Amino acid sequence: MERCLTGPMVRGTHLHSYYLLRDVLPTSSGPPAASQRAVGQCPFAKGDDTFLLSLDSLGEPDEPHALLRGLMFDYLLDDAAAARAAMSDANTRALLTKFKAAYEQQRAAGESLWSDRELPELVLRWVHYALFGVLLDSAQYETLRLLYLAGDGSSPSGTKYHFFPGGGLVGGRETVAGTGRRMSELRAAAVELYVRSPGLRDYRDDAPLGKRDFCVAMLSIMTLAGIAGPLSAAQGLLKGQWHGEVPDGFPLPVDDRDKLRLVVLESQRLRPSVFGTALEPRTPFTLQIGGAAVTFPPGTPLVLNYRTAGTQESVWHKPRHFLPYERAAQLWGPQSSFWAFNSAGDKTGGDLRTGRMCPGRDLALTFLLDLLQVLHGAGRELKFRFLFFFFPL
Ligand code: HEM
Repeated sequence: MERCLTGPMVRGTHLHSYYLLRDVLPTSSGPPAASQRAVGQCPFAKGDDTFLLSLDSLGEPDEPHALLRGLMFDYLLDDAAAARAAMSDANTRALLTKFKAAYEQQRAAGESLWSDRELPELVLRWVHYALFGVLLDSAQYETLRLLYLAGDGSSPSGTKYHFFPGGGLVGGRETVAGTGRRMSELRAAAVELYVRSPGLRDYRDDAPLGKRDFCVAMLSIMTLAGIAGPLSAAQGLLKGQWHGEVPDGFPLPVDDRDKLRLVVLESQRLRPSVFGTALEPRTPFTLQIGGAAVTFPPGTPLVLNYRTAGTQESVWHKPRHFLPYERAAQLWGPQSSFWAFNSAGDKTGGDLRTGRMCPGRDLALTFLLDLLQVLHGAGRELKFRFLFFFFPL
């Protein structure tokens, strides 16, 4: 696992175990291209075809993957985004406080948050505010809801249908059911919103990808990683309904963000929001299968399943138990081998730009910790942070 996650990644034509085809990727205008050419082979310069997750990373700073990823760090994941994402930002605080009111109302009524719209709405609004600096008005929200939450907002997996063969929107269904709105129109509106966003106001003319093409490339990233990741993680933390979530009765350390982070990571170890990745090794590799060593030729697609890896007894002591503090060093910090963000802890191939670690990791963790603190009543630390914000010393 660790060797694969910290080395070069040739992506081939898979996203996890799904086969990706160019004709089901989003474009800013019109229907997807008819060609069946694999996404991973599309040239970087063609914005409509550029899909960060499918680009190879060989560790070179000027390869398409590193250039596109670098643009994300330059504009969407910079210091300004981190500041917007934090609870010390009035808009972020307002989003979370509004959600808390709905959450408490529903809990009092004994209702489940799984099927309703508040949590997807919070994630959609928060991600767009944090990354792009856009506070969505109701029309913009509705456009993005239809685009990213597949119409009903009930399941993050619904969003994937835009990409995978056999999914709901492939094969002619280009209109969102019950709305009359076309996917191409929704995509174009989202691109327009991103192009004009404060986050991209200072986008350089000489950037390796034009601003509009960069925004188109963000459509697929927002659908799969940017929204589905944090939404699924938040749903898991708030529901506690599957094995591997925070167990019932587990005392949440709401006053201690370091401990709370371990709780979030431990829940991701047992039930990762993104369940794995895929690559095509460049050298032969050998696996033990049924006690025998079997060698596969280079280029054989390999799926790395974080969930299976996260429950290996050879790596994790008592892997089925929820033990965030006992395995703290494995979950976070220099010794960490935590995989669910597509890295071995902080270790990734090359540096932040050339590597493959989820670039949204820290932002997503900020969100999840804030969410838990707000919902479960933060104590001194959070109050102190508010005070510090209002009365900086
Ligand atoms: C708890 C929330 C999240 C989790 C668990 C998560 C997890 C992951 C994982 C496992 C990958 C690798 C996927 C693969 O190789 O197929 C990934 C990639 C990525 N994630 Fe996240 N993610 C989360 C939130 C976010 C957020 C908020 C963003 C914001 C933009 C983001 C942006 C990305 C991008 C751009 C990639 C592609 C990186 C590359 O290929 O170089 N993620 N994420």
